[in-house]
This record gives sequence, C-alpha cells and structure tokens, in this order.
Amino acid sequence: MRPQLASLFLCVLSTIYGSLAAVYNGIESLPGIEFDFVVVGGGTAGNVIANRLTEHHSWNVLVIESGPTNEGVEDSIIPFYSPGLQKTRYDWNFTTTPQQALNGRILDYPRGHLLGGTSSINSMFYTRGSSADFDRYAQVTRDPGWSWNNLQPYIRKNERWTAPADHHNTTGEFTPSAHGFGGINAVSLSGWPQATGPRIIQTTVDLGDEFPYNQDPNSGNPLGVGWLQSTIDGGRRSSSATSYLAPKFMKRPNLHVLLNTRVTRILRTGKGGPPAFRTVEFAQNATGPRRRVTATKEVILSGGTFGTPQILLSSGIGDAAELKAVGVEPTFHLPDVGKNLSDQPILGSSWFVNSNDTIDNITSNATLAAALLQQWQANETGPLVVTGASHIVNSRLPDDSPIFRRYPDPSPGGNTPHFEMIIVNGGLGGLPGHFIGIATVVSTPISRGNLTLGSANPFDKPLIDPGLLGSPFELFTMREAVKSATRFLSAPAWADYVVGRAGGLQNATTDEELDEYVRTGVAVGAHPVGTAAMSAKGAGYGVVDPDLRVKGVKGLRVVDASVMPFVPCGHTQAPVYIIAERAADMIKASWDAEV
Ligand SMILES: Cc1cc2nc3c(=O)[nH]c(=O)nc-3n(C[C@H](O)[C@H](O)[C@H](O)COP(=O)(O)OP(=O)(O)OC[C@H]3O[C@@H](n4cnc5c(N)ncnc54)[C@H](O)[C@@H]3O)c2cc1C
Ligand SMILES: *[C@@H]1O[C@H](CO)[C@@H](O)[C@H](O)[C@H]1NC(C)=O
Ligand SMILES: *[C@@H]1O[C@H](CO)[C@@H](O)[C@H](O)[C@H]1NC(C)=O
Ligand SMILES: *[C@@H]1O[C@H](CO)[C@@H](O)[C@H](O)[C@H]1NC(C)=O
Ligand SMILES: *[C@@H]1O[C@H](CO)[C@@H](O)[C@H](O)[C@H]1NC(C)=O
Ligand SMILES: *[C@@H]1O[C@H](CO)[C@@H](O)[C@H](O)[C@H]1NC(C)=O
Ligand SMILES: *[C@@H]1O[C@H](CO)[C@@H](O)[C@H](O)[C@H]1NC(C)=O
Ligand SMILES: *[C@@H]1O[C@H](CO)[C@@H](O)[C@H](O)[C@H]1NC(C)=O
Ligand SMILES: *[C@@H]1O[C@H](CO)[C@@H](O)[C@H](O)[C@H]1NC(C)=O
Ligand SMILES: *[C@@H]1O[C@H](CO)[C@@H](O)[C@H](O)[C@H]1NC(C)=O
Ligand SMILES: *[C@@H]1O[C@H](CO)[C@@H](O)[C@H](O)[C@H]1NC(C)=O
Repeated sequence: MRPQLASLFLCVLSTIYGSLAAVYNGIESLPGIEFDFVVVGGGTAGNVIANRLTEHHSWNVLVIESGPTNEGVEDSIIPFYSPGLQKTRYDWNFTTTPQQALNGRILDYPRGHLLGGTSSINSMFYTRGSSADFDRYAQVTRDPGWSWNNLQPYIRKNERWTAPADHHNTTGEFTPSAHGFGGINAVSLSGWPQATGPRIIQTTVDLGDEFPYNQDPNSGNPLGVGWLQSTIDGGRRSSSATSYLAPKFMKRPNLHVLLNTRVTRILRTGKGGPPAFRTVEFAQNATGPRRRVTATKEVILSGGTFGTPQILLSSGIGDAAELKAVGVEPTFHLPDVGKNLSDQPILGSSWFVNSNDTIDNITSNATLAAALLQQWQANETGPLVVTGASHIVNSRLPDDSPIFRRYPDPSPGGNTPHFEMIIVNGGLGGLPGHFIGIATVVSTPISRGNLTLGSANPFDKPLIDPGLLGSPFELFTMREAVKSATRFLSAPAWADYVVGRAGGLQNATTDEELDEYVRTGVAVGAHPVGTAAMSAKGAGYGVVDPDLRVKGVKGLRVVDASVMPFVPCGHTQAPVYIIAERAADMIKASWDAEV
C-alpha cells in the first residue's frame, strides 16, 4: 500500500475506533500496519511524546506498551499504597547482577510494567535537580537548549501546580514564581500533615547552618530543607497515563495505544545510505506470533533505561563483538549502548520515637488501615493521600572534605548536593514499633555499570550491573550522609521525641561499622540513567545526538531516562518529563521543516 493510501485507510479506521476508544488490548485489533510515529513504551516519557505529537491532527501515533492498563489499579491510584506494586504484574521484577561492593548481594530493581510505566509505580517525589545539572547536559552535548534557563518553558508545559488534598494554607511552603500552573501533570504539596513537620522546621532554626530552610528546592537551587512536592492530584497519583493520556486526549482519533504487547526488535528498512530503522517487531508473549508495524516518519524508543538498550541490543545495534558473543546478528556498530549505567545508592535508617502518631500505626494496624481506606474512598482525604515522606534535605560535603584529595568533586556546581535525606514519619526497616525514618541517597555517584544481553531472546531479562558503591567516593558519602542524619536528629527539636537508633544502625558507630552497615543495607535508588546517553554531535562516544536521534542511523530516536549522561541530583521523573517535552518539540520541528 502506498503511504498516502495507507494513511487514508488509517484515517477511516481510526475514526471508527477512535470514537470508541483508541486502546487495543491485543495485536489482533490493531488498525493498520503503518503510522507516522511509533512510540515504544507507554511510560513516563512515551506518553508525553504521544500526547504532543497527536496535537498535530494529521499525524497518526501508535504507542506500544508491554504492560496492562493503569485504570482501576488501586495501588497505583492511592499514594500511600504505591510500595504494594512491587513484585506484582505491574513490575518488571528486574534484579541486579551480584554487586561486588555490597558483599555480592543481588538487589531488586523495580520498573513499572503498566501504562504510565514507572510514573505509575514511583514514589511521586517531584524534584527537578539543580540548574547546574542541566547546564552540564548543555555543556557535554554542546547544545545550549539543554540548559536550565532554556528548559524553563518545558518545565512549565509539564507542570500543573495544584492545591493539596487538605487545602491547607501553603504560603511559605513553596515559591509560586518557580512553578507552572498551566501544564499537564499535577504537582502539589502534601495533602496530609505528618506530626513530625513542626520539629523538622524547628531543626532548620536549631541547626540552621548545616540545615537551612529552603522555601523551594525546585527553584534550581535545591540545597537545604524543603517541603516535599509530589506528582499527586488531590488524593490521587498523577502519572503520565492519568495526565498525558487523560480521557480528553484519548479522544483524539489519531492516538492509538496498544497494551500487553512487547516490542522485540526494531528492523532495518530500505537499503543503501545510512541505515534506517523504522519497522517495529512485537509479540504478546515469547511463543506468540511476531507482528510488525512501520513508522513512516520515526520510531521513538521510550522503553526506559533498561527497556531501551535491551531493544537496541536485541536489534543488533550495539557493540558488534559483544552482540555476536550472545548470538545476536549485529546490524549497526554502536559500542556504548547499555554502557555508562549510573544510579544513586539509597539506604534506609530508623530511630525509635516516643509517639504513636507515625505511619507505622497504619502499616501495623489493619483496623486503622481499613478505616483510612474507607475515608479515602469517601472523599479522597486522610493519611493515604501521601506517602509518609514529608521533607527533603539536600547537603554538600564540606569543600575541605578529605575525599576531595582522592576524587575530584563529581557535582556539576556549588548549588548541587552530594547527598540527600528523605524524612519519613515512620520506620524504614520493617521493624515493629514507632520510628522516624531517614533515607539517605548519594546524589552524585561516580561509578558506572552497564546493561548487557544474556541471550538473543528479547523475552529473557537483561543483565543489569549498576556497579553500586563501585567507587569509594560513594561509600564515603553515604557514611557521611548517615552521620548527617544523626546530627539532624540530635537537634533540640527532637530531644523529647527520638528515643534511639533502631535496626542495624544500633551497632554502627565507628567508620568501619558504618561502612559495613552501608554495604549490607544499600539498595538501588531506582533512578538509573545513561544507557543510551546523549553526547555532542560527532563525539567519539555516546548513543544519541543532542536531538536524541540514535547516532549514525535514521528513523530512530530515544526519549526517556536512558539519554541522561549523568544522573541529576534528585529523583528522575521530573527531568524525564522535561526532556520529553523538549524532545516532542524537536520532533515536531524536524518534520514540520520537511513538509
Ligand atoms: C519504586 C520507584 C520509585 C521511584 N520514585 C520516584 C520518585 O518518587 N520521584 C521521581 O522523580 N522518580 C522516582 N522514580 C524514578 C522515575 O519514576 C523514573 O526515572 C522515570 O519514571 C523513568 O521514566 P522513563 O520514561 O525513562 O521510563 P518508564 O516510565 O519506566 O517507561 C518505560 C515504559 O516502556 C515499557 N517498555 C519497556 N520495554 C518495553 C518493550 N520491550 N516493549 C513494550 N514496552 C516496553 C515499560 O513497560 C514502561 O511502561 C522511582 C522509580 C521506582 C522504580
Ligand atoms: C513479577 O513477579 C510477580 C510475582 O512473582 C508476577 O506475578 C508478575 O507476573 C511478574 N511481572 C512480570 C511483568 O512478569
Ligand atoms: C495564609 O498564610 C499567610 C501567612 O501565614 C497569610 O498571610 C494568609 O493570609 C493566609 N491565607 C489564607 C487564605 O488564610
Ligand atoms: C500468546 O499470545 C497469543 C496472542 O498473540 C495468544 O493467542 C496466546 O494464548 C498467548 N500464549 C500464552 C502462553 O499466553
Ligand atoms: C561514559 O561517559 C563519560 C562521560 O560522559 C564519557 O567520557 C565516556 O566516554 C562514556 N563511556 C561510555 C562507554 O559510554
Ligand atoms: C502508644 O500506644 C500504646 C498502646 O496503645 C500505649 O501503651 C502507649 O502509651 C502509647 N505511647 C504514646 C507515646 O502515646
Ligand atoms: C496514625 O498516624 C497518622 C499519621 O501520622 C496520624 O495522622 C494518625 O492520627 C495516627 N492514628 C493513630 C490512631 O494514632
Ligand atoms: C488500631 O486502630 C484502631 C482504629 O483507629 C484503634 O481503635 C486501635 O486502638 C488500634 N490498635 C492498636 C493496637 O493501636
Ligand atoms: C472525609 O471523610 C471523612 C471520614 O469519612 C470525614 O471525617 C471528613 O470530614 C471528610 N472530609 C471532607 C473534606 O469532606
Ligand atoms: C560491565 O560492568 C562490569 C562491572 O562493572 C564489568 O566487569 C564488565 O566488563 C562490563 N561489561 C561490559 C560489556 O562493558
Ligand atoms: C547488635 O550487636 C549485638 C551484639 O553483637 C547483636 O546481638 C545484635 O543482634 C545486633 N543488633 C542488630 C540490630 O544488628
């Protein structure tokens, strides 16, 4: 079928399907085999691309998502329940390879496996990172468009600041001028107050030199203690599925979403010239039939930091020798696919407290939990509208820290934290009792790992080695972060509240004991990036150009967390949204220009 005929055919069909709902649960019902754009992965970034490209009425867009719908998934809707999504059908259930620096431990590596991707299972923290994070992206890609200042319009296209569920007076808890009120994805301050809030704020007075109050950590300058901002809309999670694929957008006849379908490979189309990859192969399961669709314009890979490199490698795009070794026929030699994986280590610590007003009372008391669920169902209020975390503390190591005699400062600028503390009104160790929890995160890791294929079967899990704590810098910084958390809780504000250390921290006082506590307790921060990293055009390394086109090939772009060459100093979803908003504009510009 000629392209014009194909799109006419699609228009007719999509009008019929579109008026019903452009969601297909299986490959049999798919309307046609050609689309202008095929988006691989209906996750955080993919749904932004799908939404923005279908603003162009004549562009047909197909999203292919491996997981099921997000609709009606209670654990994805009710913020407090989000941990319940892990190790279910809504999780890819990845694990790491044995981690050398963690006494050989194998760690769970959660990733969302439903529409919305990881934005449908994450903890909803909204943190943009520092201005220097983005300025470094601009610098290493030699594209000023990635700088903090130049990305401001995209931050605002994404963000829709909203009132918290409890409609409390938020004056002084954020800086309105730093936010977007007309975007798509909801962001709000906490809709339920934790009893620890006043003591946390008092600590910024008691110990203001080390822990200054920061009215808005999303201003570009995240250092200090700030109120948590979350992608929560009233009492519900706001994911890329609930926002960018909201019913008003799903009504578009040119937007098609295919669920429960795994993309296995991208196939080369045409002959001669730079290779083009515009045909997408997929199947519903390992033994089911493989089908194909072709993008007349572009395939956008948005499978995430693990999905995207796995698809590229399975398609033969990667290090040719390494691919041959696992039985994949190389199609394009691009050695850095899957390399340079970077993530932040995280560690949960708990202290016993002299109170029952903690979220431990919910997790340990089924009667209370049932009553709170009833309240949420009645009017979407109460303790279940939040996660239990209430504040973020961002800190730098001192400039004269001995570690800087061995390692250059890995942070991109003086406004960027080396570590983060997340304060939770409850325990982080699964122990019985009442606690305050502090999760410490190394925000600026040095070590790099990789993702490789274990076999040529796209349904097999890839081998994921984040190289966690691979550099002594990370161990040092995590140890200092735990000490910092201990100092935070030594403020007078906590004198009649914190009773003592809990769990493994009880036995960890010397540096050696703390190091062992870190090694046995660290988990993945779940912020992996870098496996399809951007680099400057013509650079001798990297996977995509600054416009996110895969280097050396045609028809293929990557838009997701994998393109970030460095992990930003916070949680990664807001940066993914920002990158996706700009990417959508770049895609539009490149095709409008060719019309
Ligand atoms: C438990 C957890 C908590 C987190 N908490 C926070 C937080 O509080 N704040 C924050 O900012 N960040 C958080 N993050 C990280 C953040 O959510 C992610 O960085 C971000 O959502 C990643 O977006 P993405 O578009 O790169 O990938 P994803 O959102 O994961 O999208 C990838 C999509 O592609 C699909 N896919 C993959 N492979 C295929 C294939 N072969 N065929 C078809 N479909 C495929 C996947 O199913 C998925 O839907 C958290 C992550 C986890 C796991
Ligand atoms: C993840 O593991 C759970 C529990 O074993 C399982 O039910 C689920 O199907 C798995 N997820 C996927 C995507 O296979
Ligand atoms: C909210 O609090 C601020 C400062 O405390 C106060 O000036 C303002 O009037 C309050 N707003 C409302 C609507 O109560
Ligand atoms: C695999 O998918 C096909 C549809 O493509 C379906 O008919 C078949 O039942 C599935 N097999 C399994 C084991 O789920
Ligand atoms: C990893 O990233 C660094 C810094 O951006 C770069 O210099 C290096 O070449 C990259 N290595 C690979 C294998 O991509
Ligand atoms: C917490 O609850 C227990 C059991 O109801 C009670 O004995 C204890 O006094 C309470 N503690 C505080 C600090 O309120
Ligand atoms: C349980 O903890 C929540 C969250 O701190 C608090 O709002 C609630 O009052 C507590 N309930 C009881 C019965 O202690
Ligand atoms: C559990 O919660 C219920 C309802 O709030 C409360 O009446 C009861 O005392 C709680 N039980 C314990 C052991 O705290
Ligand atoms: C919500 O419901 C709870 C319990 O059902 C009730 O106590 C509360 O007042 C209601 N809140 C609002 C804002 O309606
Ligand atoms: C992946 O990383 C591991 C450990 O960091 C290293 O041993 C291995 O050689 C790397 N593999 C590739 C293909 O780069
Ligand atoms: C702390 O050390 C003591 C003595 O070695 C041991 O009995 C206890 O189990 C340890 N506690 C924890 C939480 O590891």
